[in-house]
Amino acid sequence: MQTAIYPGSFDPITVGHLDVIRRAANMFERVIVCVVANANKKTLLTLEERKEQAERVTAAFPNVEVDSWNGLLVDYAKQFDKPVVVRGLRALSDFEYEFMMALTNKKLNPGVETIFLATDEKYMYLSSSAVKEIAAFHGDVTEFLPPEILDDVLRKYQQEGS
Ligand code: PNS
Repeated sequence: MQTAIYPGSFDPITVGHLDVIRRAANMFERVIVCVVANANKKTLLTLEERKEQAERVTAAFPNVEVDSWNGLLVDYAKQFDKPVVVRGLRALSDFEYEFMMALTNKKLNPGVETIFLATDEKYMYLSSSAVKEIAAFHGDVTEFLPPEILDDVLRKYQQEGS
């Protein structure tokens, strides 16, 4: 069974991420959403919160699982046979970073292929960072977040005193 790994920070998971997951689930027998503890980023949500939210919003997909990982993605990928890493591509500005990551992962483990799914144009300008910035200034993020997690993300901002 070919496994697709969809890694990311998912801080928080957005409707754009969910669109990529839905499409990957139509292409692969098994999709694992891998919530990564990203050492380079200070996150709003803890790893456990991000994982639990990803589980909640993907509960309806029978071939989608959620996992978390603290380490190199290629090390996580080692447990699978011919794994494919899926990443969404939005604007051209994503390309350099994504290309660098795909090549680095390939160098570290030549068995790991990366494929890119072009974003639906509806989500072209959607990112977790933009959602956080809008939410921090009490803007409306309703259309950017899955309804199942909206209140939890907004509550987190209230707790943080933002
Ligand atoms: O949602 P993001 O923050 O763009 O996802 C980036 C992520 C988590 C996929 C990337 O940072 C990652 O794979 N981190 C794990 C550490 C690793 O393997 N780094 C080497 C890749 S250059």
